[in-house]
Amino acid sequence: MTRKRVLVLADLPGRGVERLAEVCEVEVRPQGVDSEDELAELLPGFHGLLPLLMHRVGDKALGAADNLEVVANYAVGVDNIDLEAARRHDVVVTNTPGVLTEDTADLTWALILSSLRGVVSGDRFLRRGDYYGWSPKLLLGRSLQSIVLGIVGAGRIGQAVLHRAAAFGVETLYASRTRLPKEREKALGTERRELAELLGASDVVSLHLPLDETTRHLIDRRRLAAMRPGSVLINTARGPLVDEAALVEALTTGHLAGAGLDVYEHEPRVHPDLLGMENVVLLPHLGSATRETRIRMADCCCEDLTTVLVEGQRPARDLVCNLSIPRP
Ligand code: DGY
Repeated sequence: MTRKRVLVLADLPGRGVERLAEVCEVEVRPQGVDSEDELAELLPGFHGLLPLLMHRVGDKALGAADNLEVVANYAVGVDNIDLEAARRHDVVVTNTPGVLTEDTADLTWALILSSLRGVVSGDRFLRRGDYYGWSPKLLLGRSLQSIVLGIVGAGRIGQAVLHRAAAFGVETLYASRTRLPKEREKALGTERRELAELLGASDVVSLHLPLDETTRHLIDRRRLAAMRPGSVLINTARGPLVDEAALVEALTTGHLAGAGLDVYEHEPRVHPDLLGMENVVLLPHLGSATRETRIRMADCCCEDLTTVLVEGQRPARDLVCNLSIPRP
């Protein structure tokens, strides 16, 4: 029997791809693709695709790929994929939920701590040779126990951030389309607020939402103005949730005291003004960047590709509810 063909757009850690290659014909393209046009040219003949979060998989690519059955996205966010087009073209789409929750929540706290306690600016200060000895007023931050943390988006990652807040003794609020069950709110020690109220009541606001047309620029000029003077914005979700030019303005006027960012509106480009700001901590999209998690993400994708292409089953992580593949 001829084996189905899979295009993998990266060199992935772990042995998932090796295992996949035992049951499918796998072509690994470590350099990925530069555009959807390039992907559309490559895809015909492939039955499965494993893209990264910066690879746009839209109507053009999906339409060009006559044999494509499944796209297993190497990310939990699927804003790079046109799900509606995938549904139309009868292509299963899966992602990697769950496996990166804890690491992303940890990194969110790394940004919160760095922003409030000068971890990165203190390191820069010392390396510049500016440290001449302990002093009562040197680089004063803010006590975690004095702040209110506002979580926007209470999915898996938002809840994992809330869970850690209790250990730090941080008071929290959350804003979310759907309310968490009462017992869950109680266990997390948090309360739901409307977004506008949360913004005005929080000293740190952290974003944990998927990017789609309803959340693009959710944090715009108006909502930044609604944040507490002297507050801090943390974003480990997706850059375009925030109007980056408006954020730069809010940081420049001093309305916001700082920001901790792992993602950018025009990633990998970063607004040049952010690069010069001492009160901003900038990371290169490291939320899920641990060896363990990146291996688990690869395993999820390769398992889903195998489920569809070899077993002819619908994977549990199918996001487009493709109807032509029976449920296991
Ligand atoms: C995701 O999975 O969506 C992250 O942004 C990368 O791990």
